[in-house]
Amino acid sequence: MEKVVSGIRPTGNLHLGNYFGAVTSFVRMQDDYDCYFFIADWHSLTTHPKPDNIQQSTYTILAEYLACGIDPEKSVIYMQSDVKEVLELYLYLNMNAYLGELERVTTFKEKARKQPDNVNAGLLTYPTLMAADILIHRALKVPVGKDQEQNMEMARKCARRFNNIYGLDFFPEPQSFHFSEKAIKIPGLDGSGKMGKSEGNCIYLKDDAKTIQKKVMKAVTDSGPTVPCSPKPEVIENLFTFLNIVSTPDTVQYFEDKWNDCSIRYGDLKKQLAADIVAYTEPIRQRIEQFSADRDLLRSVARRGAEMATESAQKTLSEVRHIIGFR
Ligand code: TRP
Repeated sequence: MEKVVSGIRPTGNLHLGNYFGAVTSFVRMQDDYDCYFFIADWHSLTTHPKPDNIQQSTYTILAEYLACGIDPEKSVIYMQSDVKEVLELYLYLNMNAYLGELERVTTFKEKARKQPDNVNAGLLTYPTLMAADILIHRALKVPVGKDQEQNMEMARKCARRFNNIYGLDFFPEPQSFHFSEKAIKIPGLDGSGKMGKSEGNCIYLKDDAKTIQKKVMKAVTDSGPTVPCSPKPEVIENLFTFLNIVSTPDTVQYFEDKWNDCSIRYGDLKKQLAADIVAYTEPIRQRIEQFSADRDLLRSVARRGAEMATESAQKTLSEVRHIIGFR
């Protein structure tokens, strides 16, 4: 079976952007691929050098992964920091990664702008650590959001370069994988484009009904259409994007018609949207609570995942060492 790798940084709870952007793909890939899903705790240090309680945040994400339906019987679920082999591969990849290309990565430039007092080497080499995460399992497919394209390009470059330098075809070039176009870009409800932790516009899976209602009712809108069947401005399009994901086709059509004949009332739309998001996420929220309370289970999932991921990583790394000439 083809190998699949992906990870999420434990810098907050999972939000709907993570869920529809990546986690639903994880869940759907489990039956058809050899999947490795991890929690990128080392990566989180590039922006959060002194985490409050990294142990707690990693277990929180683990519980949320399980609640979403990632199944430890089908997939290897592990903490990045449990697989030390990743670090050695990271070092080798860094030897062949160039300052110029790392500096050109837009996520690096953005983060450097956001944290000018902490433009650290980890931030610069974030893409090579990510490449190591992927190449350590010699994975072919990586389910990630569109914002990761440049990092994926770096991962392919790392693979190609290693192969070229040693004159063999050892690492396959990993490809980004999207289940469907519709599912990947989850808008924020504040008109800022993407839903993201750093944007502060997230609806979290763990949010209760009241919190979700409050957030949705605050969504940015405009003064309403005045010309029948006019194109929708971005903030309104965003609401419809959401509606398309969580509501029934009838509901979507109802509001499309209301938009088209200029009788739409955004308050009604938001109320419906909030109710549908709540209905969609409520079972997940309940499972998050159950899993979070079961520390023993979480610990045993993490332990087993660490063993299995390490086994796969050791295989790759011993070949890498041999190829480079460490015998
Ligand atoms: N950079 C990814 C993100 O911010 C997280 C990540 C780290 C990752 N290592 C990875 C994703 C390896 C896929 C594969 O979303």
